[in-house]
Amino acid sequence: MDIKKDFPILENEKIAYLDSGATTQKPQEVIKAVQEYYEKYNANPHRGAYSLSIEATQVYEGARQKVADFIHSKHTEEVIFTKNATESLNLIAYSYGMENLKQGDEVVLSIMEHHSNLVPWQKVCKVTGSKLNYMYINEDFELSDNEIETKITDKTKIVAITHISNVLGTINNVKKIIQYAHKKGSIVVVDASQSIPHIKIDVQDLDADFLVFSGHKMLAPLGIGVLYGKKELLNKMSPFLMGGDMIEYVYEQETTFAPLPNKFEAGTQNVEGAVGLAAAIDYIEKIGYATIQKIENELVDYAREQLSKLDYIDLYLTPNKENHLGVISFNIKGVHPHDVASILDTEGVCIRSGNHCAQPLMRYLGIDSTCRASFYFYNTKNDVDKLVNALNKAYKMFEKYITK
Ligand code: ALA
Repeated sequence: MDIKKDFPILENEKIAYLDSGATTQKPQEVIKAVQEYYEKYNANPHRGAYSLSIEATQVYEGARQKVADFIHSKHTEEVIFTKNATESLNLIAYSYGMENLKQGDEVVLSIMEHHSNLVPWQKVCKVTGSKLNYMYINEDFELSDNEIETKITDKTKIVAITHISNVLGTINNVKKIIQYAHKKGSIVVVDASQSIPHIKIDVQDLDADFLVFSGHKMLAPLGIGVLYGKKELLNKMSPFLMGGDMIEYVYEQETTFAPLPNKFEAGTQNVEGAVGLAAAIDYIEKIGYATIQKIENELVDYAREQLSKLDYIDLYLTPNKENHLGVISFNIKGVHPHDVASILDTEGVCIRSGNHCAQPLMRYLGIDSTCRASFYFYNTKNDVDKLVNALNKAYKMFEKYITK
């Protein structure tokens, strides 16, 4: 199966795109769906009595239904479209967190959270007088059962946890965390941004209270994200953004709000993004998660094996292959990751370097930054070989400057 041919940008064979953790490339089917939307259906949804606006509403609401089926939510209106996972997390923190937390309550995060699932909780905890606690990783870069069971207590009201770390690639057993947190009376917010591109998500099976992700990390356009929330929770929450289409009646001094999902979708929505996300879901389902995982497991195993042979690099990943997916972080000992990434770029190898929006994790690991190669099912072993060759070249260039 030549998957790369479905992705116009990957026709450039000089490029080894290893930054899908930041954003994925887009298949022709997604690009075409967006183009077709503008050629045939564009109008402002929910606002016009004319056919074109009704069609725009149908494609937008059709996309919502597709997402609901994809993540197996019980009710379609439990799917709220947002700009991205960051906006979804802010919505939960402000609308649920601000209203439900009080002094003495605790919010539990993992130390591997992206800033988007950390900074909003800092703010909410400061305002409400709640305490922010962290679950720390062990020497295998994983959360132990003991750590989970020590940190989540009767005082915990919210656990917010990434399904897969964007730095370590560690897969957290969110189902088990959810079961444990529920026993303690806490709700759980799952950041599925790094997992949904690779793993089938079933929100009912997980019993997640909230689950968020960005479309652009799963082949869809930039600027479309999803907030899933249990209906009974969303119904009790106040709107996050105020404006058109999220209201029922507006008086000079008071407003009543629209039912779900509109209550959380103020202003004109990103219909092209929703259409692109629906096309991305169709494409993922056409390939199938079983195939995606087969390709990625082989690829990541190969990358782990090849990178482990390089004695001049430090790797930040669990030895337990079954708990690892998608990304590999590493450093050439003594060389700044930005320098490494720049040399790799001259060889056409695209990786991310920096703190990956996870400064507390970096501090915990005792480093400033890492290089990160992230993989998707359109990558090949040839891309891994290009990465290794480029790393050898970078090491040779810097070897004489490295203080050992
Ligand atoms: N959150 C994205 C990443 O990890 C941008 O690269």
